[in-house]
This record gives sequence, structure tokens and C-alpha cells, in this order.
Amino acid sequence: MDAVRIYGGKSLSGQTKIQGSKNASLPILAATLLTDGICEIENCPDIADVYHMLRLLRSLGCQIERRGDVIRVDTTRLSECDMPADSVGVMRSSIMLLGALLARTGEVSMEYPGGCVIGKRPIDLHLYALRRMGVEIEEGETAFCAKASRLVGTVQELPFVSVGVTENLILAAVLASGETVIHPAAREPEIQALCEFLICAGAKIAGAGTDRLVIEGVEKLHPTRFRVPADRIVAGTYLTACLCAGGRVFLQDAPCAHMESVIACAERFGARLGRETDGLLVEGRADRRLEGGLTTAVYPGFPTDLQSLFMVVMAVSGQDGFIEEDVFENRFRIVPELVKMGACIQIAGTKAYIRGGHSLHNTIVEAQELRGGAALVVAALAAEGTGIVKNRHFIDRGYEDITLRLRELGAAVELA
Ligand code: EPZ
Repeated sequence: MDAVRIYGGKSLSGQTKIQGSKNASLPILAATLLTDGICEIENCPDIADVYHMLRLLRSLGCQIERRGDVIRVDTTRLSECDMPADSVGVMRSSIMLLGALLARTGEVSMEYPGGCVIGKRPIDLHLYALRRMGVEIEEGETAFCAKASRLVGTVQELPFVSVGVTENLILAAVLASGETVIHPAAREPEIQALCEFLICAGAKIAGAGTDRLVIEGVEKLHPTRFRVPADRIVAGTYLTACLCAGGRVFLQDAPCAHMESVIACAERFGARLGRETDGLLVEGRADRRLEGGLTTAVYPGFPTDLQSLFMVVMAVSGQDGFIEEDVFENRFRIVPELVKMGACIQIAGTKAYIRGGHSLHNTIVEAQELRGGAALVVAALAAEGTGIVKNRHFIDRGYEDITLRLRELGAAVELA
């Protein structure tokens, strides 16, 4: 079955290695198109979204080889500029190929990437900003065609911070003629990793990690080898597993420097955390009330991708609280499933109010999307009885074998 079975009520003890970052790997794999030769990307996670990105690269004529956690991408024989609709539709991150392909081939035809349950996820700002770099875009009902004889650097004053738009503009700007300024740029660690990869390949980028990026276009980039950083959202996920089930775990390679807001929040819930040179030690269960609630924000604020996970922490902590989702318009899909488990949660606009004192019991629940699915597994760890989380395929999009990793942490979970 496409599900996870969880035997709840058991505290955790053990350690697991945190996988490479999904949201750094995807734009970096797209960026390999900007070089003409063989790039080697280390520490790429073995997850469905990376599989779909590699399938798209193959459809464009790239030769792909995975040797352990190293992915070799040979872009010498780039042949196509049309991507298979089924892979584009399945994975939103296909939009990241837009900027790279325009820079490399000057032409792209692709379906509109799928939205998903967390929001409409339009690409209007992507298209608006690329048009300002000289890209001609013809929009159809289900697909669009973009052309640019030469991308022209320009000042991009954006109306709001967008991770994907920042990535696409970086990919379009590194080989453009002249200088591009992106402001406000997203500051996520995944953007910093993308800039580091491109600088290793010969790009001229200043301001990585700040809200203002200045990119001087160069003639050519060369292939390079790069190691993807550990995934801060996966580390945060297993951190919440310990906050909910209790116990003591060590998250090897957890990127603590990229998790400040998450670590501070976990400590406010009463957990004891130890930053080690090679990871994060987590001890104890969440048992304190989070005064003032929790609001998601762009980095370095609290990450929207851990909003569902901390909603579960709040529900399990037995305390009243609220969570505000300020990034996506529909990211409370987990609530009806948590209510089936006995949680008492009310949604009012962008806020979800969690009532304490309602212990969770296990039952059959259904993942609706990636992070909410992982959060349901975490909730089941703390709930009484045996639970099933269906639609495991959503979780597999971003987590390497979540049942294996949780078993390494002492959880009683199995594929179902
Ligand atoms: C990236 O999505 C991540 N995905 C998301 O992680 C993450 O939640 C999000 O950034 C915010 O941090 C990847 O990196 C592959 P945005 P992205 O553009 O780039 C609106 C996960 O679980 N918007 O920063 O799509 C948009 O609808 C995923 O790993 C427009 O309106 O996010 C959203 O409300 C989920 N028009 C807001 O901006 C546009 O043209 C921020 O989205 C583009 C975005």
C-alpha cells in the first residue's frame, strides 16, 4: 500500500544522518544546464522530486549518471527545449529550468507547472521579471513559449520576496549581457548554495544571503563539482518528531546555522538542544506553551515548510496556541486529518488556533501534500495506538525513506 504504519506512544532514541537539501539540489541541477560539460553534484537526496528533475534534464538531451550520492550531469549534447508535460506538471520546480534554458538555448516551451493544494502558486512574477530581461513570452491556455536572442541584465525591484523568482533571475542573469540587480532577493540557504555553485562555475555574483544580489553577466561558465548542503527542513522534521514523542536523538549533519529560528522555537517549547560541530542533539518533549504564537515568514523568519510540523508539536504539547501562515494561501490542509486524531483546531483566515488538553489517538489519515504528510507521521508517533498515514508518495517527494530514518531514531514505523 502507498502508506506508513506507525505504532505510537514510544519515545525516541538514536541518531540519523540528515539528507542533502531538496530545495538546494533542484535549482543546482537546473543550473548545470548553464555549463557545457560534466558537473558532479554531491549529496543529492534520493527523492522523487530529484528523480523528476533528472528526467527533465534527460528529456533535454543531458546524460545523467548517479554514483552513490553523486549525480554526474553531462550537458554537452543538449538537444531539446521542450519538456515532457507529465514531468513538468508533477513538479513545480520545473519552472527553475526556465531561466537556465533561456540562458543556454534562448528558447523554452513548457506547460504551466502544476499548482498544488498549498496554493495556486502562479508564475506571473517569473514571467514579468524575465520579460524585463528581454524575453518574449507567448502565453497559451496550458503552455507558454519563451524566447530571448540575448538576455539583458537589468535592475529587478520585485514587489515581494519569492524563492523561485530569485532563483530563475539568478539563472537568467549569470550569462546575460551587463549587470542585474535583484531586490528584495530571497535569502534562503538554498539560494546561497545556488550562488556558491555558480561562483564555483565562474559566475560573478555579489550579495549571496542578503536581500540584494548583484550579478555581472559573463561569457561562459565551466563545469564544476559541488556538495549540496544538508536539508534544514528534513532536520527540522526529525527535530519535531523528538519534541512530540520525547526522548533523545542526534541529527547528524543538521545545518544548525540555517535553523536558528527553528531551534529558538523548539527551545521555547521546552526542548533541550545542543549544537554540535557535526549535528544537533535534541532532548525532551514539548511541554511548554508557546507565548505569542508562531508566524511563518521568508528566511531568516520561521519557515513555512515547518508550519504543519509545529502545528503538530503545539497539538501534542497540550497547550493552547496559534500558528499564522503568511506565505501560502492554503497551507492548513493537515487540520481535518489532525482533528480525526482528536486535535481541537479552528482556522480563522491565515491563523489556526490549537486548543490544548486534547490527546491524540491514532487512526487512518491521508497525506494531502509533502510537509503535511510528514507532519501526520510525526503526530502518529506521539498518539496512542497504531496509525496509518496514506498517500506516502507525497512524503517520498522530499524525504529519503522516512520509515528507515525514523527507525534509526527508535520509532516503531514500517511501510504499509
Ligand atoms: C519555494 O517554493 C520552495 N520550493 C517551497 O518549498 C517553499 O515553501 C517556498 O519556496 C517558500 O519558502 C522549492 O524550493 C522547490 P515562492 P516557491 O515563490 O519558489 C507567490 C517544500 O515543501 N508567488 O517563494 O514556489 C507564491 O504563490 C516546498 O519543499 C506568486 O504569487 O515559493 C507564494 O504565495 C513547498 N507569483 C509566495 O509567492 C509568482 O510568480 C512565495 O512563493 C511566484 C510566487
